[in-house]
Amino acid sequence: MAVNKSDTGVPELSRRTFLADTGKVALGLAIGSVGLGLAGCSAKTVDSKAKQEAVPAWPWTYAKKLDPNAVAKLAYDGFYQGACCYAVANALLTELKNKVGFPFTQIPTDMFRYGEGGVVGWASLCGTLNGGSAVICLVTPKEVYGPIINELMGWYTETAFPLYVPEGKDKLVTSKSGSPLCHVSVTNWCKVSKAGAESKERAERCARLCGDVAKRVAEMLNDQADGKFAAAYKDPESVTGCMSCHGKTAMNNTRGKMTCVQCHTPHKIK
Ligand code: HEC
Ligand code: HEC
Repeated sequence: MAVNKSDTGVPELSRRTFLADTGKVALGLAIGSVGLGLAGCSAKTVDSKAKQEAVPAWPWTYAKKLDPNAVAKLAYDGFYQGACCYAVANALLTELKNKVGFPFTQIPTDMFRYGEGGVVGWASLCGTLNGGSAVICLVTPKEVYGPIINELMGWYTETAFPLYVPEGKDKLVTSKSGSPLCHVSVTNWCKVSKAGAESKERAERCARLCGDVAKRVAEMLNDQADGKFAAAYKDPESVTGCMSCHGKTAMNNTRGKMTCVQCHTPHKIK
């Protein structure tokens, strides 16, 4: 019987899901095999596959290099399904699912929908960076994901987006954000394009930006796999200057790498 079998050798997590259904199962057992038709539903899902392959420990192996252009297109299309964060994470994970399969088949990419508009519209961290960073962190150890994500963030602040041009469409005007914030990135683009922040044009710009960021993540992960990833981004002097006093070796009253003067006016010391 499926129910009894799943009680042995199932990984801990699956067992818990299973045990959560104990009530139903017990009822099923009590009233015999007729009842199992009902209770067996949930038990069966946990059973077969989960038992064969235990989900590996983090980080997962980036076992196959991805095609950055294929990833870019998936991300562009994905924007119109689940917005920016989802688009980038889903593009990379879909390619990993297609090329590597398990364990990447185990991630419900809909979980990345929250990152839309800088986290449910708060316009904080750009969703493309959020989704891309999650995948980088999934497949690289601690000493590697930091430098790669730092490079992604820095590159994002300095690059004029969008670069991606979907087949048969024209280029869009571009802008630099100087910031990883959705708020700054979107608003700076609206300034040069004269498009509304809630317009179709702005959505198309963000869809293309998804293509750009997803592609960049795939390129960097491929480079890392080849042992040739090299960080190029350095904190600008405007930041290191402010931080020489406000950072941890002196006043220690703030932290971060965002461009200070986008929000603060430089000041004289009394
Ligand atoms: C040479 C050291 C030094 C540098 C460099 C420096 N600060 Fe300060 N900052 C201070 C000190 C000391 C204070 C508090 C006393 C004061 O107001 O002069 C301060 C205060 C501030 C405050 C609190 C509000 C205020 O005006 O009192 C902000 C915000 C600030 N700094 C931002 C910056 C930024 C942004 C930069 C870089 C553009 C920067 N600081 C560079 C030393 C520095
Ligand atoms: C996205 C905008 C933004 C950026 C970028 C930013 N800050 Fe701030 N910072 C703020 C805000 C908002 C506050 C809170 C100010 C307040 O409540 O008075 C603040 C507070 C501070 C304070 C404390 C001010 C006080 O009154 O004591 C310091 C010092 C400071 N920031 C330094 C920096 C430095 C240095 C950088 C660059 C590494 C930086 N900030 C980047 C927005 C920003």
